[in-house]
Amino acid sequence: MSNKKASIEFDGKSLELDTIVGTENEIGIDITSLRAKTGMITLDPGYGNTGSCTSDITFIDGEKGILRHRGYAIEDLAANSTFVETAFLVLYGHLPSEIELATFEEELSEHSSLHYGLKHHFDGFPENAPPMAVLSAMLNTLACYNTELLTTATEGPGFTVPTMKILSKVRAISAWAYRSSVGKPFMPPRPDLSYTGNFLHMMFSDTFKPYEVLPEVERAMDLFFVLHADHEQNCSTSTVRLVGSSRASLFTSVAAGVGALWGPLHGGANAEVIKMLTNIHENGIDPKEYVEQAKDKNSNVKLMGFGHRVYKSFDPRAKILKEQVDIVLKAMNIEDPLLDIAKELEEMARSDSYFVERNLYPNVDFYSGILLRAIGIPVDMFTVLFAIGRMPGWIANWREMHVQNMRINRPRQVYTGASLRPYTPMGER
Ligand code: CMC
Repeated sequence: MSNKKASIEFDGKSLELDTIVGTENEIGIDITSLRAKTGMITLDPGYGNTGSCTSDITFIDGEKGILRHRGYAIEDLAANSTFVETAFLVLYGHLPSEIELATFEEELSEHSSLHYGLKHHFDGFPENAPPMAVLSAMLNTLACYNTELLTTATEGPGFTVPTMKILSKVRAISAWAYRSSVGKPFMPPRPDLSYTGNFLHMMFSDTFKPYEVLPEVERAMDLFFVLHADHEQNCSTSTVRLVGSSRASLFTSVAAGVGALWGPLHGGANAEVIKMLTNIHENGIDPKEYVEQAKDKNSNVKLMGFGHRVYKSFDPRAKILKEQVDIVLKAMNIEDPLLDIAKELEEMARSDSYFVERNLYPNVDFYSGILLRAIGIPVDMFTVLFAIGRMPGWIANWREMHVQNMRINRPRQVYTGASLRPYTPMGER
């Protein structure tokens, strides 16, 4: 708490409210006593001005384009860390020692395969089942095979076992969802490979032909996961917290997070960007005309991969990914016409007053699709990869909420419907 107070005046009465100042000097007005003392609530559709919690995990300054996990700059982590190390950092608050990292990696390996019973569930999905639906369903199915772990423990095996199972098995579930959709046999995990190498192996190896991964590709894929590891109280993380606040298990809370991430305004945007670029390319649309359509509110067209609720300058993750795209395309000797279109769209939008005035910059999804496409990831798997990357952030937020013994999340509303009226019998309606 800070010793500065805020006050609200209404109908000649005034209420003094406490304020809280965060580590980076963000100020929040604490309104927890508002309704009890005044009978009033606040109204903030879309929660643009509402802090739902205090958190030690991730700091974003959207005006300055800053993203830090546990105090470490995303640029620093991207240059020096791996996804497994960053996941540990996000979960436990500090960079792991050598022993901690080795144990963490060992536990991930230990939990990498799927229970035999789970394999049959994949056969039950239709061929064209969206992989995000499969992922969410299978995370809930994991709960069915681990009923002893449906707790809200935040320490000890009650927390670490479900955490390691989810972090590790999410790769096999995702890879197998893909393989069953293309009629390929499941590929068992290989404990000798890195976290990311193992995922690529389960996606792309064939029985007699192991997938040979270029070091640049493995690094870029790992970096993609690092860049998605957490992003404070976004739509899916807030969903995980909301579901978890009812004391639902970690399995079902992260399964709900997958559902929230799926939408095109959130994680689904990475697939939408590629669909947009492909549409422009294949139908010979002039990028200038497309930008004009995106500015027209009646067109229902948006420049996908642009804009962000929090970033009002460059999304630092987009900058890092843009560099990686060039590195991977060069290493794989690929020229992608969609990259040229993306760069052209970015250039146009960055000098167009509509985008400049609204501070609309490329976000993490703008270039990530081109990277994933080059690696050979099918478009409908893009958001699944976002979910794999976001898993440590969801779990860390779920844990923090329980460590803080958070109340059940239950927003209020201002009712605007009909007042009390008598029931009308059928013949009189
Ligand atoms: N193309 C054209 N206009 C846009 C766009 C866009 N991509 N994004 C925002 N605007 C306009 C919007 O119409 C509004 O204009 P006006 O003030 O005239 O009404 C203004 O910019 C402010 O936008 P908003 O819709 O109030 O912003 P929001 O904070 O509610 O929504 C957003 C943020 C990310 C949902 C939105 O920018 C968007 O739909 N972008 C495209 C989808 C996308 O790329 N999503 C990925 C987000 S990053 C990954 C993640 O973490 O989810």
